[in-house]
Amino acid sequence: MAKICLCLTAKTLKRNLEILDKYRKYADITELRVDCLEPNERLLIRRFPEQAGMPVILTVRRHIDGGQFVGGEGVRVNLMARGLAFAETDRRRNFAYLDIEDDLDIPSLEEAAGTFGTRIIRSYHNSQGTDSNLLAKIRSMRHSGDEIIKIAVRANSTKDVLHLLKAGRECPDQEKILISMGHYGTYSRILTEQFGSAICYTSAFAEEDAPPAAPGQVDVEELSKLFHFHNITKNTKIYGITGNPLRMTSSPNFFNTVFELEATNAIYIPFPTDSIIDFMEIANYLGLEGVSVTIPYKEAVIPFLNSMTDEVQSIGACNTLILTPQGWKGANTDARGFSGSLLAFLSRENFKRQRVTVIGAGGAARAVVYELHRLGAKVLILNRSPQKAALLAAPYKCAWGGLDEREIPKIEKYRDIIIQTTSVGMEGGSLDMADPLAFYNFCGREEVMDLIYNPRMTPLLRRASNAGCNVLNGYDMLIRQAQYQYAYFTGKEFPGHLLARIQYGEN
Ligand code: ATR
Repeated sequence: MAKICLCLTAKTLKRNLEILDKYRKYADITELRVDCLEPNERLLIRRFPEQAGMPVILTVRRHIDGGQFVGGEGVRVNLMARGLAFAETDRRRNFAYLDIEDDLDIPSLEEAAGTFGTRIIRSYHNSQGTDSNLLAKIRSMRHSGDEIIKIAVRANSTKDVLHLLKAGRECPDQEKILISMGHYGTYSRILTEQFGSAICYTSAFAEEDAPPAAPGQVDVEELSKLFHFHNITKNTKIYGITGNPLRMTSSPNFFNTVFELEATNAIYIPFPTDSIIDFMEIANYLGLEGVSVTIPYKEAVIPFLNSMTDEVQSIGACNTLILTPQGWKGANTDARGFSGSLLAFLSRENFKRQRVTVIGAGGAARAVVYELHRLGAKVLILNRSPQKAALLAAPYKCAWGGLDEREIPKIEKYRDIIIQTTSVGMEGGSLDMADPLAFYNFCGREEVMDLIYNPRMTPLLRRASNAGCNVLNGYDMLIRQAQYQYAYFTGKEFPGHLLARIQYGEN
């Protein structure tokens, strides 16, 4: 079973013990990062294992390896020796592990560790990138039989993560720790078991005076409470969401809570990726059973599908992948999520006799226009690039135009409902606080929907509401599309009674 290691990076031993006490229930072992301690505290580390009351890794990480130690190697080796000195026969009073870098060859340290049962973690770090010869590296690193190999390399791309995953698969019997550091590699930490690793290093993000020990780490509490790390085994079904940059996603909250409440042996993880091709290879390697696909891959993923629903075929965008014996099947749950949400809001069965303006002509707009057309609306599509609006409008014979004041007379003919589908106004986006329809004055009778759910009130919705319009954000649509996804993933209808117990996100 893979273990959770809480990294302790505070400046004093006392503070590290306080942090350990607060989070001990989540961790199996802990790492004392001696390099983060104040210099006088470094001299007092020997009693730490006894005080910690759980197995401790002794690490004095150099600056070049991502640590804070800037002194000479002699001083560093001395600190390690100090940690191992006066070893006790009761092993719980000794450091359980000593982290020694691959290029540090000090036989006396290794001997001392070996004599008193301290295991060596033989580590290699590359905080710049992922080496091309990882497999050879793993195979050549171990100095003695009982060592654990640790490779922590920065992933600058999904290809880098794939490279590490493949290298690990080539040596299944070796006890090792493999970590893709950074944003792209975060899931290599959550899926420790699947990457063939023995330990997942975490930090307590809430403790500001003990910053995360390495880039891409997952918070220790989140790892247990959200991702149920200790329940992840080789038999756990893995689902996830892929997209880029994927910083704001709240889907893991939704799915992991349902899986927990339903006692399903499954997990849902974010897979930020810069390449859908490499991600699909990772998905196959890891045996993913289902994937939510978001910006910007809803169209790019289509060539990977073995089959697709009629909706994907017609809309030309896919936000759900389901693994079947024949390969990946694509579905689109945005469409039904959208229409279900808007119809419920309007207390309507369909959009017959409704004249609707849609802002945007991207992937999200395609699902919206498809549903509006299917359910009887007359539609005007307005887009910054009018040619794209024209292309989307053609098969449905919709009206179309650009996104400026020249189109006001058209909007006035299509304003029972106005739907905003672009990312303009999204929190964290380059254009938050922006209103794509700023040139138009609401008359107050429009029903206005913005697909954005964070913030709850975009500038467009706020202005519409102030003018007297009824307004709806994208939160309810998000929940509805996720419920359809759940049904696709599990083959079971979403247990509606659980909805009240699920926190989706910032709403
Ligand atoms: P999605 O899948 O979220 O719809 P997309 O396919 O990339 O993403 O489409 C983005 C939509 O937002 C497009 O309609 C785009 O307009 P263009 O086709 O003119 O690019 C629209 N959009 C993005 N930034 C915009 C901005 N600053 N002002 C107006 N529209 C914008």
